[in-house]
Amino acid sequence: MISPESSSSAPPTVNGRLRDFSDDPIGCMRRLQKEAGNLVALEQDGQQIVIAIGADLNRQILTNGDQFHSQFFALRGPKNSAQRRLTSGLLSMNGQEHLQQRRLMKGAFEKKAIPGYSQMIGHHTQDMLSDWQPGRTRDISKDMTDLMLRISSSMLFGMKEPELALEIGGMMERWIRMNQEIGIVALVPDQDFFPRYQEMLTFAEKLEERILAMISSRSSNAASSGHDVLSLLQRAKQTGAPMTESQMVGQAALVFGASQMTTAHTLTWTLFLLAQHPEVMQELVDQISDKPESNLRISPPEAPTGIMPANSTSVLDRVIRESMRVLPASAYSQRVTNGSTELNDALLKPNSLVIFSQFMTHRNEQLFPSSSKFHPDRWKTIRPTGYEYLPFGGGAKLCLGATLAMSILNIVLPMTLQKAGLQVVPNTRVNGRVISTMFSPEFPLPVTLLEPGTIADTSSLIGNIHDLVTFPSHASQRAAA
Ligand code: HEM
Repeated sequence: MISPESSSSAPPTVNGRLRDFSDDPIGCMRRLQKEAGNLVALEQDGQQIVIAIGADLNRQILTNGDQFHSQFFALRGPKNSAQRRLTSGLLSMNGQEHLQQRRLMKGAFEKKAIPGYSQMIGHHTQDMLSDWQPGRTRDISKDMTDLMLRISSSMLFGMKEPELALEIGGMMERWIRMNQEIGIVALVPDQDFFPRYQEMLTFAEKLEERILAMISSRSSNAASSGHDVLSLLQRAKQTGAPMTESQMVGQAALVFGASQMTTAHTLTWTLFLLAQHPEVMQELVDQISDKPESNLRISPPEAPTGIMPANSTSVLDRVIRESMRVLPASAYSQRVTNGSTELNDALLKPNSLVIFSQFMTHRNEQLFPSSSKFHPDRWKTIRPTGYEYLPFGGGAKLCLGATLAMSILNIVLPMTLQKAGLQVVPNTRVNGRVISTMFSPEFPLPVTLLEPGTIADTSSLIGNIHDLVTFPSHASQRAAA
């Protein structure tokens, strides 16, 4: 809220194309930060995107949910449309409604619910790895995306009807991609926009139909015994909790969208960074072979969010934290101002789109010296706050699935490294690309599989990855030096 005597003025403004942000959010944020500082508005024809960088601005935004509303999906669709219902999950909710629905859903993601999913995660991972043989080349980006399609589908709908779950999962994946791609164009629509928008609305209707059929095909018996998210929501409904069928549709779509790509990209980036850092890989492989498999898998670790737990003790834990710092799957998050709103000394107009960025925050040199280097051992000594390090967001919208995501990473990564050594195919073009808020490799990421335990040297690569990460030099360069 603005006090009557407020002396705030508009934030520093740079005129430019809004499309520059959606085409390359990281490049655009870096350029604007250099030109105008940590709080800047990019403006085109009276429309603005406000970019806020750094821990203090993250805190102001995340602790003021009344003024900074969450609006995850760019295109909500017409009232009473399937698109509107599918996009009405937690991330589009604010205030009391959000609190109440989040409380209903919490049970599915609590620490005590995690063992119920572990077996399923291990089963799908084993299945994927059955195709991994030394000497073969695999696209780890595709493998991790497919694996997470299976895991997210089973997590949502259970293992009783795996083919149907996978079919709906596949439709969800396609619908989320449509939203990401069309959402970008929606900022500055071109002639392509309307036919694609229409296509998405029609597809949303088919998807909703399938989810509703899945809900009604379940006998109350199945719902009362299942460990999956849908069963849990159905049980909540049966106990009189106020969750309508269309709210269930929205929450199911959100959980799928929030879990699949984020976790797949985190798995891919972590395996990639390990393959490019032989010394870290060696340390991790030693730890994994020292410990019986089960020790690594049983208890879900704390998610590294909010107030950080004690300093990191296991190599795997440090590797995961550092990977999510250097290449966070969620590169930025967005809010919309609910009325005129102050941020620092700047006055933001109502309905301004405000961006705060995990990627940019994690590159603060004071907090993380040599921030472009993948250096897991830094976690032996540092303890950033939840606004300085926020791979899972923060405040009221803190990722509900963070503990489950950490469990998936803690199961899949050791199983994968026990199965094969990894070498990125030399001279591959590796580009990091942000679509909507999510940060992933733009092209396939081919990796040659080696005998388990073999540690390969760093591969020379091309692409914009060199603007994002500083790699150790190749062995021959080290020897020459
Ligand atoms: C490494 C993997 C993951 C990352 C990096 C991640 C990241 C995030 C971030 C940054 C947010 C907050 C977005 C915002 O503030 O606008 C969020 C919210 C959320 N995430 Fe995750 N997530 C991951 C995995 C998962 C998984 C596995 C699930 C579910 C099974 C999940 C469910 C959710 C939900 C339901 C929300 C919305 C919370 C709310 O609005 O109250 N996420 N996630």
